Order: sequence, then C-alpha cells, then structure tokens
Amino acid sequence: MFSYSSLLDLNRMKIGIVGGTGGMGEGFALRWCLKHDIFIGSRDVTRANEAAKQYMVSARENYGNSMTGNISGEENVRLSEICDLVILSIPYESTESTCVGISERISPKCIVVTPIVPMRREDKGFTYLPLEEGVKSAAELVSDYIRPRGRIVSAFHTISEVKLKDIKQSLAVDTFVCGDDQDNVSTINSLIGEIKGLRPIYLGPLSMSYQAEILTPMLLNASKRNKIKHPGLMVT
Ligand SMILES: NC(=O)c1ccc[n+]([C@@H]2O[C@H](COP(=O)([O-])OP(=O)(O)OC[C@H]3O[C@@H](n4cnc5c(N)ncnc54)[C@H](OP(=O)(O)O)[C@@H]3O)[C@@H](O)[C@H]2O)c1
Repeated sequence: MFSYSSLLDLNRMKIGIVGGTGGMGEGFALRWCLKHDIFIGSRDVTRANEAAKQYMVSARENYGNSMTGNISGEENVRLSEICDLVILSIPYESTESTCVGISERISPKCIVVTPIVPMRREDKGFTYLPLEEGVKSAAELVSDYIRPRGRIVSAFHTISEVKLKDIKQSLAVDTFVCGDDQDNVSTINSLIGEIKGLRPIYLGPLSMSYQAEILTPMLLNASKRNKIKHPGLMVT
C-alpha cells in the first residue's frame, strides 16, 4: 500500500492535537513546538485559541530563539483536514463521537495517533474496561471509524502528563507503540525520539494495543498503593 509517510518532511510537520486543551495535549504541544507547527484542538475554538496562546508563552520562555515551530488554536475536526498527523488526546468516553466527526473530513495523508486508555476508577483500584466490560480497546474502537486502519498508531499510554508538561525534564522512560503500517510507525517513533529521554518500543500490530493500554491502570494502582509519584516504565 502507498504510504504518505514517506513524503513527509519530518523536520517540520503540522501536528494537530484533538482535545489539546487537556493535560496530555499541553505536554505534546510544549515538547513538539520546538520545530513543528502545533494546532491545539478543542470543541470550542475560543478555548483552543486561549490554550494555544498560553502554551506559546511557556514555550517561548523555555526555548527562546531556538524554537522554530508555532502553536495556534483550531476546532477539533478541522485539524484532521489540515494536519500531517493528529493525536486523539481525549477521554475514552468521547472516542466514538469525536471519531465520527473526524472520519468525514480527514485528509488521506493524515496519520492518527491514539494515547486513549479505556479505564475507570473503582473502590478496588483502577480497572481496564475491555477486561471488565468486554468493550473494545481504544485502538480497535478508533479503527471502527477512522479508515484505513493502517493510518492509526497507538502510543504514549504510560507517559505521565505531569512529566510530559515539564519540558526541562528528561522523561527516562519507554513508550510502547503499535500499528499496522511500518512507515507510519517510523514517523511516530521519530517524533517520540524528539522528546528528551523517551524511547519507542514497538509491540506489534494495532490489535496488540490492549497490552499497552492496560498498563496505565496498572501503573496508577502501583502509584497510589505505594506512593510512587508519576510512575513510568522502562524495558531493560
Ligand atoms: N493524563 C495522563 O497522564 C495520561 C497518560 C496517558 C494516557 N492518557 C490518555 O490520554 C488521553 C488524554 O488525557 P487527558 O488527561 O489530557 O484528558 P482530559 O484532560 O480529560 O481531556 C482532554 C480534552 O478532551 C476534551 N473533551 C473532554 N470531554 C470531551 C467529550 N465528551 N467530547 C469531546 N472532547 C472532550 C476536552 O477539551 P475541550 O473541552 O476543549 O474540547 C479536554 O480538555 C486520555 O484518553 C487518557 O486516557 C492520559
């Protein structure tokens, strides 16, 4: 299959963050604006613009003149028309409604990244919904709406929002990556490699994404029960 990834200029990409007003979105924006053009997405374009302005101030303070990228605001669905890549940085519960909107307008060349984790907090701890309720993994749910499946890459499930936003910090962790199209996986691996101290570890095709997603409730339980702040994983 022909892949648009091979045509991308990896040195300056248009990266759209659907739900970019949230914590993970801020982290992605601050990490990648050093050399890429970031579009903060929201259901409300005013909220998107306000967040973009605020992130831009933090980025300029930290990077100064070494920053060649930009951060601006945009409506969620519009991102998938204009960007080389969009990250679905939204809660699991909003996956279907958000993907329906995107699927109607997405550009043929746009890669879609899902860090989404289907989990819930219960008395016993955080649980993974596909195991508890038999629902689909987030990556499988996204693939019901976003076609072709090869454009979807799953990653970032075990990255702490707090550490991601702290751009002076080297993360010193790994992130698992799943996807069916090797060119698209390579593009995401390259972006992951631009985040200080973050290493991509390929797990397999998108159908394996549940193995990465389930690690998030596991880490949160370990964190809460053992008082470990913002935990992460590294394969040694
Ligand atoms: N937080 C973490 O440390 C972490 C770590 C690993 C993975 N993840 C996963 O990454 C994703 C994003 O995490 P997050 O903590 O940044 O999420 P979040 O703050 O809960 O939400 C992100 C944004 O999603 C939008 N949103 C909320 N409800 C929505 C709805 N019903 N429909 C459409 N959009 C909605 C909101 O933007 P607008 O109101 O502006 O539209 C919100 O700012 C989640 O799936 C999470 O499981 C999070």
